Amino acid sequence: MNVLGIETSCDETSASVLNDDFRILSNIVLTQDEIHAPFGGVVPELASRQHITSIVYVVQECLMRAGLTIDKVDVYAVTQGPGLIGSLLVGLSFAKGLAYYFEKPLVVVDHLEAHMESAFIENPKVDFPALALVVSGGHTSSFLMKKKLDYQLIGKTRDDAAGEALDKIAKFLDLGYPGGPVIDKLAEKGDPQKFSFALPHMTDGSLDFSFSGLKTAALKKIKEQKISKSSPLFVDFLASFEMAVIRALLGNLTQAVKLFKPKSLLLCGGVARNKKLRKHFTEFTQKIRLTPFIPSPEFCTDNAAMVAALALEKIKGGMKPSLSLDLNAYPRLPSFPLSTAQKK
Ligand code: KG4
Ligand code: ZN
Repeated sequence: MNVLGIETSCDETSASVLNDDFRILSNIVLTQDEIHAPFGGVVPELASRQHITSIVYVVQECLMRAGLTIDKVDVYAVTQGPGLIGSLLVGLSFAKGLAYYFEKPLVVVDHLEAHMESAFIENPKVDFPALALVVSGGHTSSFLMKKKLDYQLIGKTRDDAAGEALDKIAKFLDLGYPGGPVIDKLAEKGDPQKFSFALPHMTDGSLDFSFSGLKTAALKKIKEQKISKSSPLFVDFLASFEMAVIRALLGNLTQAVKLFKPKSLLLCGGVARNKKLRKHFTEFTQKIRLTPFIPSPEFCTDNAAMVAALALEKIKGGMKPSLSLDLNAYPRLPSFPLSTAQKK
């Protein structure tokens, strides 16, 4: 069985084919960074228009690299939400069209669940229960996974996502878009202790995240201390801010670990590419004698391999892929577990 996955939830047009051993036959990711860079963030209308222009070529390239013709695709899979509604609709409509024309089933998947699945692509044997931290530009959420496909949302951001905070600070300092990778690189040479930041704290004991206070504090420091690319403390500032984001994430995880006593910890989503976060997450996990699972960088940022893998996981888990095309996209974080959300 060959599964063709399509992902267009934000600003990456991606297609991937997996066979039924979860082997990736191809995974094409076309980023729109250059289109959005002048605006310092994703412009939704431009993103959906670019997906329309790119999607046919991305799917064609994906099939060519997999060495397959389209009639060899047995199942289509696509991201249904959350994400930018226009962008989601391009992928969903395209996948529906293919499934309808070739009379093949279509499996829709949730974007955050697909990010969690990305941790299993290279490590199918994870000990459960596991805690998964999904840290991206649109979301910062944590999940308790009893087993694959069986999980519960335990924390989510109340305002900005961690990646969004990194991107906004980078935009303010005129570092280009996306800012996360730029900060990652520049912060390598900085002193993370130079600036101190008060970390967010939930007074109601919840496991939710918050990054807007940290972002505002950083903006205040930039203005008060006149930090710019030419200041001597520039890289120290970036390293300190990056470390504050990492400490906020790991502080939250510490609480979650105490509460749920997992056997493994998963780190997924675009921000999981961050070198310092990967290092600190691994050290933290090993210190408490658990096993860390972090996907390779290419599977952290948005990609269709995780979409096809999740669809395959669902089929292997007993889901009967349907020929029904009565499916719509959803822009916001649904209420988990998803089986309920998908029925809505
Ligand atoms: O998962 P993703 O590709 O898209 C969403 O679902 O949002 O994540 C994109 C986010 C952006 O905020 C980007 O700045 C961040 O991931 N990111 C990074 C790095 N690479 C990507 N953040 C920090 N360090 C990186 N190396
Ligand atoms: Zn994502």
